[in-house]
Amino acid sequence: MRVTLSLIKADVGSIGGHTKPSAEMIAEVERATRNAIDNGLLIDAWVSHTGDDIAILMSHTRGVNNTDVHQFAWQAFLDATAIAKKFGLYGAGQDLLVDAPSGNVRGAGPAVAELEFDHNPGTRPRPAESFMMLAADKCGPGAYNLPMFLGFADPMYCAGLMLPNMIKGFRFRIVDMDNTEGDSIIELSAPGDYYQLAALLRDNERFGIDAIFSRTFDVQAAAISTQRLHNIAGTYTGKDDPVAIVRNQGIFPAPEELVSAYAKAHYVGGDARGSHVMPLMPVSVNTPVTGMYCLPLVSCVGFSMAPDGTFSTSHVDFFDNPAWDAVRWKAQEKGYAMREQGWSGAAMLPYTELEYSGFRDTVTGLVNRFAFAHEDGRPARKDAV
Ligand code: 13P
Ligand code: MG
Ligand code: MG
Repeated sequence: MRVTLSLIKADVGSIGGHTKPSAEMIAEVERATRNAIDNGLLIDAWVSHTGDDIAILMSHTRGVNNTDVHQFAWQAFLDATAIAKKFGLYGAGQDLLVDAPSGNVRGAGPAVAELEFDHNPGTRPRPAESFMMLAADKCGPGAYNLPMFLGFADPMYCAGLMLPNMIKGFRFRIVDMDNTEGDSIIELSAPGDYYQLAALLRDNERFGIDAIFSRTFDVQAAAISTQRLHNIAGTYTGKDDPVAIVRNQGIFPAPEELVSAYAKAHYVGGDARGSHVMPLMPVSVNTPVTGMYCLPLVSCVGFSMAPDGTFSTSHVDFFDNPAWDAVRWKAQEKGYAMREQGWSGAAMLPYTELEYSGFRDTVTGLVNRFAFAHEDGRPARKDAV
């Protein structure tokens, strides 16, 4: 059978600031998914949150960008928004940027990661389907660039790349997220285009990995949401908070080969007002954003898939392990180090990236007041210059 995995997330309101959705909101989305399973739209679904974002993981047979599946998720988020409004929660409906999208919800605010594949357990090259979903809060889609690149292209992280199933490497589809006229993409393969990939992926704010494919088997390994809210809304409406689906084992990297790069707690754009450069902290799923600063967070949960496309009844939470406590401390230390220098230089995102936020208005207002000085150093009147 052909199975589609769809992961759609949105921030539609949170308690006490931008921390986490309420239990009532989560219950509402879970109720909606149970209905969608009962009426045959979905095979299975699982609802979670990472920080203030609700993520709906779904399996079905309707393909990617399916109107019914996307409209279902949109309606579930609208229902959760109504609850957020009822209780006066912060940012109710924040990521639902249009009134009513016709068709799929890409470009309407929610983050979407989807992929479709042949699901015939017991047969080669995929005798068993195992995959993980990642959800990140307080950061942009480029947060995944480095760890995905290392997991799928660098044998220092994935020694499995030296095995016959993977030695031809992987093909990366990369989106130029600054091009708002459409999906502007390039495909590059590792190992051949290794340095070209690095040249693009170093710029987390502009270029994002959108999909990864096995070159040996020509099947999709990963899907990542590369939608950028400020490009959609034309103004700052919250950070993009990307999600990803990654298939693992066998013809793909193993979970440990994929998650090891998160031990770097690498610096990404995000944190408070989406305007700082701060480390990405791996956390358990359903973790709220609290603590000093609001470090970018990423969760990673794994499932197996039964022959009928349903998920294993329990999941594995990859970052819920004492080994990751050390990484969390490291992230906090890196956060202190960066925030010690407050707004200065590398600690905040560059002006171009702040373009859509209120910081831009402040700076532009001041830039407009600059005027050439008289020769004796007295400031000239602007209209006299
Ligand atoms: P969210 O996108 O998670 O709502 O966060 C936005 C923000 O500005 C944090 O300070
Ligand atoms: Mg929010
Ligand atoms: Mg968020």
